[in-house]
Amino acid sequence: MTSKYLLGATMLAAGLFSGISAASAESLTLYCSADEAWCQQIKTGFEAETGITVDMTRKSSGETYAQVRAEASNPKGDIWWGGTGDPHLQAAEEGLTEEYVSPTRDQLHPWAIKQAEAASNKTIGVYSGALGFGYNKDLLAKNNLPEPKCWEDLTKPEYKGQIQIANPNSSGTAYTTLATMVQLFGEEKGFEYMKSLHKNVNQYTKSGSAPIKAAGLGETTIGIVFMHDAVAQTVAGFPIVTVAPCEGTGYEIGSMSLIKGARNPDAAKKFYDWALTAEMQGKAQEANSFQLPSNKSAKSSDKAPDLSTIKLIDYDFKKYGSSDERKRLLQKWDEEVSTLPQ
Ligand code: F6P
Repeated sequence: MTSKYLLGATMLAAGLFSGISAASAESLTLYCSADEAWCQQIKTGFEAETGITVDMTRKSSGETYAQVRAEASNPKGDIWWGGTGDPHLQAAEEGLTEEYVSPTRDQLHPWAIKQAEAASNKTIGVYSGALGFGYNKDLLAKNNLPEPKCWEDLTKPEYKGQIQIANPNSSGTAYTTLATMVQLFGEEKGFEYMKSLHKNVNQYTKSGSAPIKAAGLGETTIGIVFMHDAVAQTVAGFPIVTVAPCEGTGYEIGSMSLIKGARNPDAAKKFYDWALTAEMQGKAQEANSFQLPSNKSAKSSDKAPDLSTIKLIDYDFKKYGSSDERKRLLQKWDEEVSTLPQ
């Protein structure tokens, strides 16, 4: 009787133990291209929700694309969340990401679904935000500079050495800027604009939001960034003013993609479905992120820039997210803009 009991207890313990170890063995490698604080919130939020351990790395959009591409024959990442849509579209076209239609998809705004449709469902929109710039109003006053209101203002000689922007190879924000100028002014004038701007740039950063963080700290006067990233600095208490440029501007559809050949495809799909829910997206503002969520029912902050009041261009995601066009524009920027003396 005793030995039977002991045997049963041992088997129960073994069963429980193997059950627990199977659950805790589930893991996910997340490549995250949004702001570090939001990426951390997402990692811990998903772990708490599912018990799946998340190994998260934050890198800019262009950098993550390059990593996914470099790892294609032996993928290490399972899911790529956030970052501008263009490199996600390029990854889709190059067969680096996996087709998937989530049951949560019909809760999304049409612009998020359109992104999926443009890529045979190999990516999807998770948020949106308009490009613009921000300035440190204390530094502007101290340097006796006029308030910049338009893209053209940023090329004026008085702003020499006052402007920071990221490098479009690593940063989706800066690539969006390059593609916006080409669409807003035409290719020739768009590149002329980037060359004139270059004369005023004090540093090309790796990450897209770094320039406005530097402006908040008084290290540069102006940062070219997504408007929500400038708002985040104001909310954090820095003297930053956000500008919607007078000529109109481009925007991003921040995206998510499943990596082809992922080691943990089931966990990746669980993450994908969760990341499209109103509940998950509504928590962005708690991480000081003010993009427009793609789930129609997600809470968005009243501090988020109101896209309906901003003059937006009809950004051609299909064209500027295509492999040939993105490569061509980046190469042209490398050869004709970045090499110019300042
Ligand atoms: O999270 C901030 C953010 O601006 C996102 O809206 C955007 O998708 C991403 O960063 C772009 O970052 P990067 O320019 O570094 O690729």
